[in-house]
Amino acid sequence: MKLCVIGTGYVGLVGAAVFADWGNEVIGVDIDEAKIKKIERGIMPIYEPGLSDLVLLNVKQKRLSFTTNLKKGIQGAEIVFICVGTPQSKSGSADLSQVWQVSENIGKFMTDKIYKVIVTKSTVPVGTNEKVKQILKKFAPKSAKFDVASNPEFLREGCSVKDMQKTERTVVGTETERAMKVMRKFYEHLNMPIVECDLRSSEMIKYASNAFLATKISFINEMAQLCEKAGADVVKVAEGMGLDSRIGSKFLNAGIGYGGACFPKDVSALRRTSLDFAYDFALLQGVMRVNDVQKHYFANKIYEEFGGENLSGLTFACLGLAFKGDTDDTRESVAIKIIHLLRGRGAQVRVYDPEAMENAKRELGTSSVFFAKDKYEVLKGADAMLILTEWGEFKDMDLTKVKKLLKKPLIFDGRNLLDKKVVEANGFKYLAIGRKTGSQKQKAPDFRAAIL
Ligand code: UGA
Repeated sequence: MKLCVIGTGYVGLVGAAVFADWGNEVIGVDIDEAKIKKIERGIMPIYEPGLSDLVLLNVKQKRLSFTTNLKKGIQGAEIVFICVGTPQSKSGSADLSQVWQVSENIGKFMTDKIYKVIVTKSTVPVGTNEKVKQILKKFAPKSAKFDVASNPEFLREGCSVKDMQKTERTVVGTETERAMKVMRKFYEHLNMPIVECDLRSSEMIKYASNAFLATKISFINEMAQLCEKAGADVVKVAEGMGLDSRIGSKFLNAGIGYGGACFPKDVSALRRTSLDFAYDFALLQGVMRVNDVQKHYFANKIYEEFGGENLSGLTFACLGLAFKGDTDDTRESVAIKIIHLLRGRGAQVRVYDPEAMENAKRELGTSSVFFAKDKYEVLKGADAMLILTEWGEFKDMDLTKVKKLLKKPLIFDGRNLLDKKVVEANGFKYLAIGRKTGSQKQKAPDFRAAIL
């Protein structure tokens, strides 16, 4: 099929490459000329395993090309995917200005006679596709034949190519059987059931999924705080809970809170949507509040350990800057937020991340942060080691070497990444999230206070 993919961010670029690899003829469109030129040369604007090879292969085989010319991009296309950004606006809702602008341009340039399905893949609130249709109708020539469809993506950064190639689910919302037939034809080779629904339900599925996963994380993070007070171990609690197939073990890793370009903005946008419909989705307020508190709970452990709020004269070795492992993305990274908190109290930081150093330099500046070349150099002379991102390579640190490099054998593990028994057996003081460690004293519960 002939396709046009508008936007070359995580969703658009990965989508364009994978759709071309499926044998389609794909044109990727972006307004950023420099970015397009780099992509054509195999220089990806994002770090995603397998992406560069897939792009180059499909460009070479002439199934994939890129342009800044939207008119050229949509000529002859049977499906046009809108994959532009929908960042958080000041009010907490999604900023849809790029979606509106692209819809207007698609309408203006829809001059050929080919029936098109205009598909929104960007994460957009309920009702957006109906407005996209209105805009298209307003700007398209009367002769243009088209329908709109909602087809949200569920890919995760760091494994988006794999997620797109072998999706667990496909959701398509349309208003017409004609559009649904085109979408069925596009996805039929995956041999997977498609959740076929109306536009609004499809839009809602995306937000409901992200909000639910964020709720799972906030639940286990709050559980971690309770476990710590009560002398239980949240890792064991999560393991026990996760074995119940109704609960599942995924997204039950307690940590410093969720970050990234999706969960924070999508939970906030869904809450805004609920208010727009005069419904107070109160649970989401709690999910956001817990997430906000979680980084302070972790930072407090550090303040307490060093006897107060003034951290001047201390140096921390921070392992991890990306919002999660396997990505270079530092957007809404809790690791960066924690570093700001520590520096705000006078601490010096040495930092290292396997992929996110360049992005972090933009956020942290380079004047008073030491950017180390590896996971050991970062430790030299630091008062403690902090694990802030769940990178696999931090799991198997050589603890003898770590001990030699640090001033004190002290580890704060914000992702519960290390094996506490091994760490403690190696003579470290180990402070983690919601875990009963040898270093933490539990207070006897004051039942009298609870009754009163
Ligand atoms: C998320 C969803 O998982 C995807 O399905 C969705 O398509 C995507 O958003 C999107 O809307 O585009 P992503 O933001 O790449 O994907 O990252 P996740 O792997 O979901 O992690 C989000 C955050 O939660 C990270 O900061 C991670 O460290 C944190 N997390 C995750 C935890 O703290 N604990 C967990 O158990 C899992």
